Amino acid sequence: MLIKSVEFVTSAVRSSQFPAAVLPEFAFAGRSNVGKSSLINTLVNRKKLVKTSRTPGKTRLINFFCVNDSLMFVDLPGYGYARVSESERRSWQPMIEGYLAGRESLRAVIVILDVRRTPGGEEIQLLQWLEQRGITAVLVVTKSDKLSKAAQKKQIQIIADTLAADPEEMLVFSAKSREGWDALWNAIVSLAQAPPEDEPA
Ligand code: GTP
Ligand code: MG
Repeated sequence: MLIKSVEFVTSAVRSSQFPAAVLPEFAFAGRSNVGKSSLINTLVNRKKLVKTSRTPGKTRLINFFCVNDSLMFVDLPGYGYARVSESERRSWQPMIEGYLAGRESLRAVIVILDVRRTPGGEEIQLLQWLEQRGITAVLVVTKSDKLSKAAQKKQIQIIADTLAADPEEMLVFSAKSREGWDALWNAIVSLAQAPPEDEPA
């Protein structure tokens, strides 16, 4: 994949603020601090396109980015972060679900998992929620640089078992070493080219 251009489009909290749903769109979802924003920066070869932070809860709005004038990437706020205020947390779920459920151009949700962590109820619920709505999920296990190859393999099996997923279908990624860059781009490009599921091919 050759990255020719990347532009920040807009930040939004509700559908009236979303850009027109005309380009194939990919949303990046996962727990706070899992590395969603870093993964997007790595994919588009930019260090600081999207703000990242050591402190969970950095991304608070739905941020849209246009890549090569042909794809839309959407950085979502993370879930499962206890330290944000209760009122803020209550507003997140409807915001994210409102986006995911109603977005016609959405081709897949890239669900990002930390290689070191066994997924919990939030991940299981998100995957079930996506499946019920016929939204494709691409599972990406990130921060692979934090574990040895042997430890990664073991951990990926645990993650797959927890999510009832096929370990072979999970993409291994690192924003630090850039492992998985080609594989994730290949997955995104082929989903972008495939006709949307609800239309005849
Ligand atoms: P929120 O917006 O708060 O939900 O977080 P996020 O999921 O966008 O995470 P972000 O990209 O801001 O990264 C969180 C922290 O993890 C930062 O300190 C990153 O530098 C670090 N990080 C992200 N990806 C990787 C990775 O692949 N390897 C390593 N070693 N660190 C990473
Ligand atoms: Mg973020």
